[in-house]
Amino acid sequence: MDHVPLPKDFLIRTLSEKDYPEISAICAKVYPTERPYTDAELAAHHRLFPEGQFVAIHQPTGAVAGAHFTLMIWLTHFHLDDPWDTLTADGTFLDHDPTGHTLYGADLFVHPAYQHHGLGRTLTWAARNLVSSKNLWRMVGGSRLPGYHKVSTQVSPDDYISKVKSGEMIDPVLTAHLHDGWDAVTAIRGYLPHDVESEGWAAVIQWVNQACPPPPDWAISKVPRKK
Ligand SMILES: CC(C)(COP(=O)(O)OP(=O)(O)OC[C@H]1O[C@@H](n2cnc3c(N)ncnc32)[C@H](O)[C@@H]1OP(=O)(O)O)[C@@H](O)C(=O)NCCC(=O)NCCS
Repeated sequence: MDHVPLPKDFLIRTLSEKDYPEISAICAKVYPTERPYTDAELAAHHRLFPEGQFVAIHQPTGAVAGAHFTLMIWLTHFHLDDPWDTLTADGTFLDHDPTGHTLYGADLFVHPAYQHHGLGRTLTWAARNLVSSKNLWRMVGGSRLPGYHKVSTQVSPDDYISKVKSGEMIDPVLTAHLHDGWDAVTAIRGYLPHDVESEGWAAVIQWVNQACPPPPDWAISKVPRKK
């Protein structure tokens, strides 16, 4: 996989120190209930795994339009329903393991002014190229479900995910991930505990690199949940 569908006027490059203030400002907009990344956290991501930190740039203005942050893990070292804080070592990415066979998509966001231009898809493809070039088995992430609060009194989280998968319901984030080729595996609780719109729920999402054979006797369903 090489081709990344790049929307006109945008480019994708890896993270640089000068991007930090704009990235924190975008996070404050798209995640109003979360603390934005600090410069120290972004510097740590950059130092630990520079090739896994992608940034979309609007070329005419030089503005940061979005970002996709990833790290490598062995999912077997975690539980399927571990929260974002655990999977990212409290946002530091200190758990990045260069021998891991899974690329974990820790964050993907696009500035509201640049959403619906294909940038989420482009950033996703950039990460998948990394999975291919490193011959990793797959990519895993946690998808927010910001539309869930509108129906949570009528529909269980797993049913909501099924309805979004079938197209019967639209979720502003999960629908985008599904359109970008992810599969939603299961609902998990407490992934982002402050995510009011998702009522604390998320979907484990996965994309398998068909070019890389799975490790023997391995399936995501075998990753245990917390007791
Ligand atoms: C999710 C997000 C990254 C998508 O980025 P984007 O650049 O707007 O997405 P794209 O333009 O690349 O769209 C990709 C696909 O998703 C679909 N899509 C995007 N936003 C959508 C929405 N709100 N509702 C339904 N479908 C949507 C697009 O139609 C497109 O599919 P198509 O080409 O088959 O029609 C963006 O909405 C965002 O930053 N949200 C806030 C931060 C966040 O919650 N991130 C997710 C963390 S898990």
